[in-house]
Amino acid sequence: MVEAQQLALGIDIGGSGMKAAPVDLATGEQLAERYRILTPKPATPESMVKVVKALGKHFDWKGPVGCAFPGVVRNGKTLTAANLDQRWVGVDAAKLFNDVLPGEVRVTNDADAAGVAEMSFGAGVGCSGTTMMITLGTGIGSALFSNQRLVPNTELGHLKIGKRDAEDLASSRARDDLDLSWKDWGDNLNVFLGEVERILSVERFIIGGGVSSKFEKFADRLKLEAEVVPAKLRNSAGIVGAALVHAQSNPE
Ligand code: BGC
Repeated sequence: MVEAQQLALGIDIGGSGMKAAPVDLATGEQLAERYRILTPKPATPESMVKVVKALGKHFDWKGPVGCAFPGVVRNGKTLTAANLDQRWVGVDAAKLFNDVLPGEVRVTNDADAAGVAEMSFGAGVGCSGTTMMITLGTGIGSALFSNQRLVPNTELGHLKIGKRDAEDLASSRARDDLDLSWKDWGDNLNVFLGEVERILSVERFIIGGGVSSKFEKFADRLKLEAEVVPAKLRNSAGIVGAALVHAQSNPE
């Protein structure tokens, strides 16, 4: 007998875009082309909930929804929002989204979601020991796994390098803002990853975000003991991981 396909809609909320696609939870496959809407400015709960509603409507989605959010998330509440409007702090995002979508919505940190996707179906499959997913986008996200088990909300992008947040030196946005060459930016990333490796004895880093497709442009600047590999799911990791949160026990 063929088992019914388990599906969830994955929504990935980012500082510049909000994207969604239906995902097959058994295979991690995205079942349709993702739909993307620009993140409204200012990026308030009020403006963004309308986009979440539109993303659900685009797919005429009635089933479960997993939502990846760029901040600390505990029990569905968003506790930080470094690259969004500060009105997100303390909001019950799960409730907010549940009110505008027919299916049950769960919310999780975006890097944790991307990490779960990579560990399940990408570069982290079968990895034991300490693995760290790092997402490089508007901010830097981190997801720590010990023998495949997630330690949620690690927020290492806010580690101080000198007086600055790591994400102001080594995120994809920082490369543009500071007008850095791939090599110079790679050196910044090396300093950041080196600090994380020194403190947490990471054995394998998985590098995600749009820049992972340019991995060879900066890989030679990374002088670490740990293995460093690009993410395999590339830009879909957030969507797939957000959806997977429905199939797995809640990572918080
Ligand atoms: C946020 C993290 C998030 C990361 C990537 C950081 O600024 O604090 O929660 O995972 O950006 O979006």
